[in-house]
Parts: sequence; C-alpha cells; structure tokens
Amino acid sequence: IPVECFDYIVFGGNGDLAERKLLPALFHRDLDGQIPAGSRIIGASRTAISDEDYRAFAKAALEEHVAEGDRQTAPMERFLSRLFYRQVDAKSETGWADLKALLDEAGDNRIRAFYLAVGPALFGDLASGIDRHGLSNDRTRLVVEKPVGRDLASARELNALIGEHFREDQVFRIDHYLGKETVQNLMALRFANMLYEPLWNNAFVDHVQITVAESVGLEGRAGYYDKAGALRDMVQNHILQLVCLVAIEPPSSLGADPLRDEKLKILRSLKPVDTKNVEQVTVRGQYRAGASKGGAVKGYLDDLGEPTSDTETFVAIKAEINNWRWAGVPFYIRTGKRLSERMSEIVVTFRPIPHSIFDNSAGHVQQNQLVMRLQPDEGVKQWLMIKDPGPGGMRLRHVPLDMSFAESFHVRNPDAYERLLMDVIRGNQSLFMRRDEVEAAWEWVDPILKAWEEMSLKPQGYTSGTWGPSSSIALIERDGRTWHEPD
Ligand code: BG6
Repeated sequence: IPVECFDYIVFGGNGDLAERKLLPALFHRDLDGQIPAGSRIIGASRTAISDEDYRAFAKAALEEHVAEGDRQTAPMERFLSRLFYRQVDAKSETGWADLKALLDEAGDNRIRAFYLAVGPALFGDLASGIDRHGLSNDRTRLVVEKPVGRDLASARELNALIGEHFREDQVFRIDHYLGKETVQNLMALRFANMLYEPLWNNAFVDHVQITVAESVGLEGRAGYYDKAGALRDMVQNHILQLVCLVAIEPPSSLGADPLRDEKLKILRSLKPVDTKNVEQVTVRGQYRAGASKGGAVKGYLDDLGEPTSDTETFVAIKAEINNWRWAGVPFYIRTGKRLSERMSEIVVTFRPIPHSIFDNSAGHVQQNQLVMRLQPDEGVKQWLMIKDPGPGGMRLRHVPLDMSFAESFHVRNPDAYERLLMDVIRGNQSLFMRRDEVEAAWEWVDPILKAWEEMSLKPQGYTSGTWGPSSSIALIERDGRTWHEPD
C-alpha cells in the first residue's frame, strides 16, 4: 500500500540498532519504491554530528548490512539524500528547537514517526521532550523498542509515562518477531486454510514446541544482558508472542484490536508458575566454554569479564494454557545463546492414531508433525506417514510435505523491521504490542523471576555448542517426549 510523505525521527540514530537494522530496512523500502519523494529520515542523539557525517555513517551501515547486489550507486545516493541529523539531548533543552525547526519545514500536517532506539531509561524524557517542545502533531506516532520494563512494576511505570504524552493508538511497541515472514505465515496457515483449524485443539494436538536457538553469545551487550537474562530478553516478548499466535482463537478480523484482544486472552490464561511448581517446569542455564561454528569460544563469565553472575543465557519452560481449547496440551518453550546452531521453529505434534491396522511392533507409525521454521531457511513441513515405495510389503515411512520459501518464491526474505517500520507509517498496529498485552506477559513472567530468586535456583552450566543443560532434555523426556531434532 503506498504511503504518504513522512518524517522518521530516530532517537539513537547513530546507535547499533539504527546501524544494523533500521537504516538497512528503510533503504530496502526505498529500493522498492515505498518511500515517497520528500520524506526524511532524521537521526538524533546527544552526539554532535553534521548531516554529511550522518550520511557517511549510514553509507557505511548499508555497505556492511545490505547485500552487494542491492547497493547500486543511484539508489544509495537517493536514500542518503533523504537523511538528516540533529543533536538533541533527552535530558536537557539542547537541540529540541533545532529539531522542531527542521520538522516544521515540512509543515505541521506531515506524519511524524518518532522511533526511540534507546534504552528504556530515556523513554520518559524523550516522550515528554517531544510533547513539551511541540514536536507532536495529530499524526504523530511513537515507536518504542523492547525491553518495556524489567518487571511488571517498571513496565507499568514506563507505559504510564508514555501514556502521559501519547494516546495508545499512537504508540507502537515493537516486537520484531511479529514482523518475521513465517510468524505472519502462521496466521495465514491457521486462518486461510480449512485443513488445520478443526484439528487445532487438545482433542488432536499432543503438544507444541517452540525453540528460538542462537549460536551467538553476548555480542558486546554485557551491560544490558547481564541485568536481563534469557527470560526477560526473549521469553517475555518474542516467545510469548509466538505462543499467542499458535494458541489464539480466530480473531474477528486482522484489525489491531481484534487480534490483540485474542492474544491478551491467551496471556491471561497461562498457568501460573511459582515457588510450588517452578522446579518442575522451568530450567535455567548459563553457557560455559565450548565450540561454536568450528571455533573455540569462551564461557559466559569470561565474555562478561566477571567472576560470578547468576544470569541465565538459556531457559526452558513447560507452559500450559488453561482454557477450553488447550487444557492439557503442554507448550514446551526453550531459548538460549551459544547453542548448537541458529535455529527457530514451532513444532505442533498431533496425537498418535487411535489404532493401527499396520504392523506397528517396531513403533514406526509416528505422530504427524507440523514444523514451521522461522529461521534460517524459512519454510513449513508437514510430516506424514506414507507407504515406502516398492513391492516389499506395507512398510511405512515418515516423510515431509516440504515447502521451503526460498525455493518456492525466489524472492529476498525481507527483514522483519521492513514491514514493521512501514506499518508504523500506515498507522497499522496489528503487529505491535498493546499496553495491556505487555503487562499481562510480565504478570506471568514476574512470579517465575521471583520464584527463582526465592528458591535460589542458579543456572546450570552447559557447554557452548550444545542444546543447553541436560535438565532441559529431562524436562521434556519426563513426559515421554523429546525435543524435535532440526534436520
Ligand atoms: C533481541 C534480543 O530482541 O532478539 C537478542 O535482545 C536476540 O538477545 C535477538 O539476539 C534475536 O533476534 P533474531 O531476529 O536474530 O532472532
């Protein structure tokens, strides 16, 4: 859908997120002709940088993060000419008037999207600065990066601070997993096909697994990560959003509120985890030295440069949804750093057939599985039993109906941010988290954090390059199931 002229103002415009994700994503949208002439991207931060220097920064970012084949001179120059920069200090009056003057050059009626690509400590100052200095108009949007808070109380506080200056329909809380192609495909698969929905419940589904595995370690983010840990960094947001999309009832439409109302119901139906069951249903891990991608890597404490830390870099949880559709179906979730490989997938395992007419003494009639691969090699596989070809009798085999997106569509898989950045301009909040959703997710996560602390449950060490601590395997094997082996 074509959009109107807009100004994107990126606070933290010279930071890591802008460099790795935002500028490359906006460049790709420009390449696809989605950025109307006259639109501007305005970097802002405390650092004094000229427009020219900012363009040089952006050029280097594109050279690093955009494939060479997409970097022709003319489109690069056109994109760079859309960039501006203003020095603005969130904590003082410095720079705000300059930024306002630049914005006002385009009149007062243009869409203005303020992207807070900064730590949450600055959200309040920036939201109030934008408001106080008259930078906001009726068509303003505010984009907030995670983490929104580090627990329920701080999330409420942040949301309230933002709410003092912006209406909820102006606030776009990013969870970039919602912009991933396969994640959106999950909705297509469920709600644009007759095939799955009748089976999508506890009568037919045995269990669900969600794995978000990373091979990277701390990546220079020690300051943030050591205070967060995997539960706050990945589960509270990305993984719970995936759980929601697997589990929601069909919304009445794809509109932002119908969809988010359904997600909220799931978050509120999650079975509480607290001191009574935390040891049975959660696993914490921390990576030790090992190997990653063929090379030796250090353990977490060495990466951190501290002798001790109880921060988890791995978490596995057996979650349950206490509602009519899902009661009794475990959702096993796991995520971690420095695991065997970078691999994210959702696996829905259907129940065993009620009775086998085949010789199943060897137990080879396996359960159907639907595997949605988020990354890398996005695609969907439906595992089925078929007859092994040939005259040798009725031998059965488990094979996938395999749809690899790369092979099927021959198109570049856009980065999640591309979709989300433009949805902000379109004013479409469907793929953004509403205030009550974020808080409901914290309501489930908070008691887990508290129980770990109260019971002094320390993370278990696991060797880098493996699938996490042995207790994660025990967590699922206790129920007579195994983690899906990626193929
Ligand atoms: C971020 C987390 O939200 O997601 C990171 O803060 C993590 O720790 C990243 O590495 C993973 O995103 P992706 O898109 O690479 O799976």
